[in-house]
Amino acid sequence: MIIRICQKIFCMPFSLLPNYDITPFTTFGVPTYAEYAFPIASETDLHTLVSHAHDMPPEWFILGGGSNILFSRPIRGLTLLVDIRGIEHLHEDTREVVLRVGAGESWDPFVSYCVTNGYGGVENLSLIYGSVGATPIQNIGAYGTEVSEVIEYVETVDLQTGEDVTFSREDCRFGYRTSIFKSPAYRRYFITHVVYRLSKNPQVNTSYRSLQTALATKDISSPTIADVRRTVIELRQSKLPDPAQVGNAGSFFQNVHVSQAFFAELQKTFPDIPSFSITRDIIKVPAAWLIEYCGWKGYREGDAGVWPYQPLVMVNYGKAGGQDILDLSERVRTSVWNTFGLWLEREVTVY
Ligand code: EPU
Repeated sequence: MIIRICQKIFCMPFSLLPNYDITPFTTFGVPTYAEYAFPIASETDLHTLVSHAHDMPPEWFILGGGSNILFSRPIRGLTLLVDIRGIEHLHEDTREVVLRVGAGESWDPFVSYCVTNGYGGVENLSLIYGSVGATPIQNIGAYGTEVSEVIEYVETVDLQTGEDVTFSREDCRFGYRTSIFKSPAYRRYFITHVVYRLSKNPQVNTSYRSLQTALATKDISSPTIADVRRTVIELRQSKLPDPAQVGNAGSFFQNVHVSQAFFAELQKTFPDIPSFSITRDIIKVPAAWLIEYCGWKGYREGDAGVWPYQPLVMVNYGKAGGQDILDLSERVRTSVWNTFGLWLEREVTVY
């Protein structure tokens, strides 16, 4: 690719990369270009950028691991590529360790680092693609664990003022696949580091049914964090496509939360509908089941498809465009709506 230096267009002490191919930075692998791109390797880069904001394209977009986003059109304005690295030990005693991790580090190698060193708390979140900086945004979760349980605080730079702003765990307002960073007013905060508190005497969490079953099948009665990591990886590999082989962004839709009363009504028409209790009155209905019931599991149209082993996942078999995948996903959620009266919220961000 030819990178033209565009200092002539904007008067700055650094250069933006025009018409930049960001396809390799996304796990869906749909062809996507950024009007201008700029890699961010430190807080200082951000401070410099903000101080030259008047010379910049007005629209800014932050691209992290690209593992939870579908691009249906080119990105306008300036795309900031998150490239802040490093794992720093802020505190360590006999019981725990506090690690400050650069937002641009890849998540799963970080989990591997923790498990290798005996730091517990993130092993259930093994093999989730994406970057460390993205983990608080949607409060990634899997196999009975959410990342919010181990996040101590999140460091950011305010892209409007250039100020460094720290969000405590409470400030982050974590919920199921959500946090304050998802609301439009907080998109101006560029996450630079995430600080995790991990245990050196870990209590493994095997409460998730399929994880429990898989460990029992392997005759592991007192699993270590390494056992949990290995088993979670096996489970994920059996159900979820590897983005290096088949483009995807993990669960495309969120599970659905309904009231007990609404669920009782659904059960009258659909007696086999599965459910998991969240609180006394809130029931989780697996979106995978709803999609499968509507006949979409394994459906393929051109190179856009619904993954045959886990229908929550939309896939790009090769040459699908972002709009092809978006169109198919809309048909999936419309049919779920028409059948059950339940509206599937996307887990993936669509641009
Ligand atoms: N199910 C089906 N058909 C299928 C697969 C699942 O009907 O082909 C139903 C079954 O009733 C099953 C239930 O869905 O019991 C739950 O399935 P699973 O354990 O696979 O979990 P999920 O709720 O579908 C969530 C996360 C996944 C995470 C798994 C395991 C969301 C949106 N997704 O899926 O996250 O790996 O739990 O914890 O919450 C991701 O975020 O990329 C991701 C894959």
